[in-house]
Amino acid sequence: MAGNITFTMIKPDAVEAGNIGNILQMIEADGFTIKAMKYTKLSSEKAGEFYAIHKERPFYGELVEFMSRGPIVAAILEKDNAVEDFRKLIGSTNPEEAAEGTVRKKYAKSIGENAVHGSDSDENAVIEANFHFAGTEIF
Ligand code: CMP
Repeated sequence: MAGNITFTMIKPDAVEAGNIGNILQMIEADGFTIKAMKYTKLSSEKAGEFYAIHKERPFYGELVEFMSRGPIVAAILEKDNAVEDFRKLIGSTNPEEAAEGTVRKKYAKSIGENAVHGSDSDENAVIEANFHFAGTEIF
């Protein structure tokens, strides 16, 4: 799977704003296919575990609270060069720096509440996909 999959979450801010459909439309229009998808809510324990790499960062508490405050859409996406292409599609972490036409430019509110997650490497894409999905949920 490595090299052609990435993992994404449509975060609570984008779900609350009613942008699930708009964001999925952009993802499919960019040539990604959906290998797995679920509408779910992270407990604060699960959110903390998912973002454990950021544990020492000053924004960790805020991040965990945000990511567990409401439902998300989690998905595994497939495309050649998935990680890099998806990061291009979503734009910079900070929406103020995101390029025109990117998901974050259109739908993110701030660096913290930035609408979507995208894996940062092929290795993390596989780890994150397995964190959220069982083998029987991936097609
Ligand atoms: P994401 O790409 O999901 O990975 C880590 C997340 O931490 C990031 O998106 C943001 O939601 C959040 N984050 C990164 N930098 C900051 C910051 N300076 N302040 C608050 N949250 C941040």
